[in-house]
Amino acid sequence: MKRVFIHTFGCQMNVNDTMRMSEALGSMAYTPTPTADNADLIILNTCSIREKAEDKMLSALGRYRQVKLQRGALIGVGGCVAQQEKNRILERVPYVDFVFGPDAIAKLPEIIQRVDADRVRVVETAWVDSERYVFPSADPNTSRGKATEFITVMKGCDNVCSFCVVPHTRGREVSRPFTEVLKEAASLTTVGVREVTLVGQNVNSYLGGISFAQLLLRTAQVPGIERVRFTTSHPHDLSDELIEAFRVEPKIMGHFHLPVQSGSNEVLKRMRRTYTVAEYLERLEKLRAARPDIAVTTDIIVGFPGETDADFEQTFELTEQVRYAGQFSFVYSPRPKTGAAMKEAEWGSVPHEVKIARLERLNTLQKRISVELNAASVGQTVEVLVEGSSKTDASRRFGRTSHNRTVNFDGDAPIGALALVHIEHASASALGGKQVSVESLPAIVIPEAVVAPEVCVA
Ligand code: SAH
Ligand code: SF4
Ligand code: F3S
Repeated sequence: MKRVFIHTFGCQMNVNDTMRMSEALGSMAYTPTPTADNADLIILNTCSIREKAEDKMLSALGRYRQVKLQRGALIGVGGCVAQQEKNRILERVPYVDFVFGPDAIAKLPEIIQRVDADRVRVVETAWVDSERYVFPSADPNTSRGKATEFITVMKGCDNVCSFCVVPHTRGREVSRPFTEVLKEAASLTTVGVREVTLVGQNVNSYLGGISFAQLLLRTAQVPGIERVRFTTSHPHDLSDELIEAFRVEPKIMGHFHLPVQSGSNEVLKRMRRTYTVAEYLERLEKLRAARPDIAVTTDIIVGFPGETDADFEQTFELTEQVRYAGQFSFVYSPRPKTGAAMKEAEWGSVPHEVKIARLERLNTLQKRISVELNAASVGQTVEVLVEGSSKTDASRRFGRTSHNRTVNFDGDAPIGALALVHIEHASASALGGKQVSVESLPAIVIPEAVVAPEVCVA
């Protein structure tokens, strides 16, 4: 039996792709290993959303070179950097054996056989026509030990946000037929998964035979599925039908990630986001009318080319006004071939120290809001889906509320059980408490997971 180590960078799409890679390699008798040191095959599943993500990939490659020298391990680079920068990788990193794009996951066994047999470097980054593209199906056995799992419902992105590399690395949108999505949800329940998150770069524009709202409602009806989530949504596709789904289906969890990117209409226009701040707020108001306690999170880019102090103040004010449950804020990073990178000289770069100062102010504000919102849960009893033991203290349990808040608690509820937890304290990032009760019979008692894949969010 040979061993494979896959180092995953980036978003939920990559996390899921890693699982599919692992399954494809299982057919060649490769078994996953949690460390690179004893691997025969090392794959980096890369992300190029920001420069930092690429830098992390390069430094990881440097470390894995030793394993190649010592054990003769093969090294492959997949994911978004591979798709966009195949030539640069091959030129700069002579010890990389193969490079493959996100569309080539099913071909991995064939690629590795070619590298092994012919001792050549293989590159496989061609796009598959959308009509011919087949989404790899998940093997439920990969999800044993987990209460919650991702299901890919679409790939690619047809938007043209001027800062974003994703349309270049993932190609055009292709939706997965809804019957496949429902089948995958049902198959996951056979190993004990009770919560699924439907993932894609732009799930609201799903076109897999039914609308995205219908897909959520149908997924919620799959026997054994207790909770449904999704990510990520573009605000301009947030339909009334989707909002209505939140009103009628309690199994759709009370969390909505709705990236706004900026609070300034001028910046949004240059970002090509196709909505104004007022339109964004109007959608949000409707959503909150349908599900008053919904937790809204967002992504924000600070220091986009031409962003003035006044533009940034508007982002700051929007954060105050919406009172996001959380936000992922990033300093703008120019990406190859994107509209904003080409226009940066014309629009004007924001100096690095100004970007950092703005980011720090925004993070401080968000932290204060998150602390206040989380503190409001103290004294309440909340329902938590148990995912395992706490990462900070293995004697405690860990799970998430409907609002996607992390809860660490004292108790004995098994993975996959819904537990009621009395909240006793709160920080900006987590709640803590004691188990009050747990369902008497969880559907399947799930063993604790053994191999946790390494994921770097950059
Ligand atoms: N499809 C999602 C975004 C996926 S990328 C959407 O449309 O909302 C995740 C986040 O990375 C984005 O929301 C954005 O905030 C950030 N991001 C993307 N490109 C970036 C860049 N060039 N510099 C800094 N942050 C970026
Ligand atoms: Fe990138 Fe915009 Fe597509 Fe999101 S919607 S993946 S930000 S191009
Ligand atoms: Fe995801 Fe990064 Fe690619 S965010 S789609 S892995 S560029």
